[in-house]
Amino acid sequence: MKLANIKREWWKEAVVYQIYPRSFQDSNGDGIGDLRGIINRLDYIKSLGIDVVWLNPIYSSPNDDMGYDISDYRNIMEEFGSMEDFDELLAGMHQRGIKVVLDLVVNHTSDEHEWFKQSRSSRDNPYRDYYHWWPAEKGTPPTRWSFFDEQANAWKFDEQTNSYYLHYFAVKQPDLNWENPKVRAEIFNMMHYWFKKGIDGFRMDVITFISKHPDYPEFPKECYGSKMIDMYAQGPKLHDYLHEMNREVLQHYDVMTVAEGPGTHIDTVLDLVDEERQELNMNYHFDHQGIGVGERYIVNHDFQNLVKFKRVMSEWDAVFEHKGWNTTYLGNHDFPRMVTRWGNDSPAYRVPASKLLSTYLLTMRGTPYYYMGDEIAMANIKFDDINDYKDLMTINWYHLTKQEGGDLDVFMESHKLCGRDNARTPIQWDASKNAGFTTATPWIKVNSDYTQFNVATQDKDPESPLNYFKKLTQLRKDHLTLVYGAYQLLWPDHKELYAYTRSMDDIVILVLLNFSVKTLALELPQDLQNGSVLINNYPQFECHGNKIKLQGYQSIVLQI
Ligand code: GLC
Ligand code: CA
Repeated sequence: MKLANIKREWWKEAVVYQIYPRSFQDSNGDGIGDLRGIINRLDYIKSLGIDVVWLNPIYSSPNDDMGYDISDYRNIMEEFGSMEDFDELLAGMHQRGIKVVLDLVVNHTSDEHEWFKQSRSSRDNPYRDYYHWWPAEKGTPPTRWSFFDEQANAWKFDEQTNSYYLHYFAVKQPDLNWENPKVRAEIFNMMHYWFKKGIDGFRMDVITFISKHPDYPEFPKECYGSKMIDMYAQGPKLHDYLHEMNREVLQHYDVMTVAEGPGTHIDTVLDLVDEERQELNMNYHFDHQGIGVGERYIVNHDFQNLVKFKRVMSEWDAVFEHKGWNTTYLGNHDFPRMVTRWGNDSPAYRVPASKLLSTYLLTMRGTPYYYMGDEIAMANIKFDDINDYKDLMTINWYHLTKQEGGDLDVFMESHKLCGRDNARTPIQWDASKNAGFTTATPWIKVNSDYTQFNVATQDKDPESPLNYFKKLTQLRKDHLTLVYGAYQLLWPDHKELYAYTRSMDDIVILVLLNFSVKTLALELPQDLQNGSVLINNYPQFECHGNKIKLQGYQSIVLQI
């Protein structure tokens, strides 16, 4: 790999920090995080050394799916503040050299969006074709699976016009009909509206699902249930629409775009992100998150299978060797806390494991997406009581499992590991009541470990995960090899060690990550010896010639 041959882009060199506004900081004492709360924390965000902030949806919403059900794309959710607050937030980020990426949720709207209210009112309403309708006189519509429906059925019968509407997600999230050019024009105009305000990009929610076959053909039987995701991502006009979006909107601004890409696969993903095709910049895949997790997020013995994890991440890296661009993430608002999911949240290893995972994210090729709170090693809250959950996905699946007489203990244990709410508990700012997140009752419980794990304590401790993360963002800035360098996996079959090199021009960087509690003894190959330590999550590094030892969850980055 030679830097001279690389097309450098700011969004390839950026570290993205994801903020889930509802749980970041409450400023007005209603128990819900808000935009003013983020404004009050701008200096903290800047201090992390990140370049881009991705905000989960901030638009008007009845919050059935926490903002992913939008009722007005051009207004701010009441609980989060006002458009003036947003403008101030954007200006404050830009003053600090931070770019802002918003969530673009256009596969569906809320059923409380004006378009849907019109659409459902009569069959000849001008907005009728903004959504997908199936007239009941044609019989039962072809089977479609829904993520969030209590019965997993994506068609909802609507009495008023004796028709069914399509909703891949909750019943209150009807899918927009992209076949209709008016829908596309509305969406493109709305995107211009936000770009003209000065935002720097969009993370595109389930963008791979926007194209539906107008005849809704029956899918092959082997694609039933959640496997329908693959079919959803192969809509016949997906690439036409994205190319049109690029032509009509994206190419007019210097912005970044990332596809949330459920159903994307290594053999076809370049169709989305090969720059020559002029669609999107990067893809965000789910293959690693699926390891060891089955239907309804029931966890199995493969949950932390490192060999599989390495294989998946390495295969995805290889796709973008010459074209397109990858993303790397280990958690977000839809997945468990990374230290619980991929590391070890026991008292003995939580700190080194969290630092190891941060090291991984910041030394891989592909833009790192770092989820808020991971910098202080926040861990899963692991609710015992279903009534503590706020997420409709866990709640609906719980009821479905109960109705079917399924094993609720297994369900609850699995959701302690995988439930989405684990990542949605408030940021732990300090050791005061409610972790400094709010003066009121928080909308979701604060993890009781906040007295130990919080920003204020870690800020003062030079060895904390927080300060380690800041060193890592600087390290990535100092070494373009970590951004663009070729990636080569070492010891692919090792069950505890994840090791790789990153190389560019005449520079080689070696990353050694011990994903286990065991002490690992290794012999380094000749050409990888005598490196100098760039960063180490332990105070020592045991190295004698070619023989090295790694402590439990030790991670070391060496320049050879
Ligand atoms: C995406 C979001 C998730 C949301 C879903 C439906 O996967 O990340 O939070 O529930 O889309 O909009
Ligand atoms: Ca608030």
